[in-house]
Amino acid sequence: KRLERAYNIADLRLMARRRLPRPIFDYIDGGADDEVTLARNMSAFSRYELVPDVLVDVSRIRTETRMFGQPAAWPLMLSPTGLNRMFHGDAELAVARAAARHGLPYGLSTLGTTRLEDLAKAFGGPKIFQIYIFKDRGLTAEFVARCKAAGFHGLALTVDTPVAGNRERDRVNGLAVPPRLTLRSMLSYARHPGWSIPALSAARFDFANVSHRVDALADGPMSLFDYIGGQFDRTLTWRDVEWLAAEWGGPLSIKGVMTPQDAKHAIAAGATGVMISNHGGRQLDGAPAPIDQVAPIREALGDGPDVICDGGIRRGSDVVKALALGATGCSIGRPYLFGLAAGGEAGVDRALTLLREEFDRTMVLAGIADIGEIQPRHIRGISRG
Ligand code: FNR
Repeated sequence: KRLERAYNIADLRLMARRRLPRPIFDYIDGGADDEVTLARNMSAFSRYELVPDVLVDVSRIRTETRMFGQPAAWPLMLSPTGLNRMFHGDAELAVARAAARHGLPYGLSTLGTTRLEDLAKAFGGPKIFQIYIFKDRGLTAEFVARCKAAGFHGLALTVDTPVAGNRERDRVNGLAVPPRLTLRSMLSYARHPGWSIPALSAARFDFANVSHRVDALADGPMSLFDYIGGQFDRTLTWRDVEWLAAEWGGPLSIKGVMTPQDAKHAIAAGATGVMISNHGGRQLDGAPAPIDQVAPIREALGDGPDVICDGGIRRGSDVVKALALGATGCSIGRPYLFGLAAGGEAGVDRALTLLREEFDRTMVLAGIADIGEIQPRHIRGISRG
């Protein structure tokens, strides 16, 4: 049917763009400032060549691995993203169900629109909760306890948001909380009746995991966003990571690490891995592309810890490149969100199927039968053009 006419992630992006009101599409698609980092996250992959072996028996490809100590059918996971109900009514549950079908770990955001307990009930696969250390450490400790009780397997601590990035598309579109309805955005909302008013209200109120805190404040749902914004803590240091690692005691990745030094700090502070990430180009514009940091970070950490390359992956071949540079696996945000917006659970399924097929085909064409056999010689950096 319709989704089968999406032959790659770029096609799903175009379908999402047609389906969503412009302000919502731009919220997914956009990045900070001049979007230099957003663009480079993707283009950086094209500066690596895959160097194939030939006449290798590639009749069977072995792709299973582990991330956050959990099994993954191939080296991919779904990064945490907020506010999924704005993109499709089935929200996080649709994404998690598709992830389960593909045998991939799923990351739920603190700012998701599904309660972590509800997600855990509906999703049997490996689940990671994306946590923040809030000014109110009690709120963070409460999340740790809830994640343990609900059976989450790992935590990803996001550390690249001491303040919100400057997303100018959102400012132009009036995508704020509450949304400012400019003439342009109103027309765009009106032209997309398939996208419903409940979705708009999700944008305003529905941070399901923290709303109980704000209900207690009793001054109305509008203050929720302010409450969360006010909870980001610019005083955080590695000492706070030590505290969280001890409090949690399980697999913990620091999401937003970009340098070998910080990767070492993360492990010293008790993390079991790092997610190399610039938040999909949504925070510090000018930051390097994650793929360019994989080799130095793996070299700094040695073989043990998870090194996950997060951001810019749009083809299965990108994952092969990341593995060749030393990554444990990759994680994706927009690729599955475009699928979600284009067609709900089936759209996420399509995104994951496309990437999987591309990954397998790339392995076969590169003459690599087992992800454990990918070698540095399979990849070569070419000069910046
Ligand atoms: C995100 N990301 C994100 N990260 C996080 O730690 N907490 C969050 O709530 C969100 N929310 C969010 C919303 C949307 C719409 C996007 C696109 C991204 C960042 C996400 O986890 C991941 O780092 C990037 O999406 C990876 O880049 P790609 O795959 O989108 O290129």
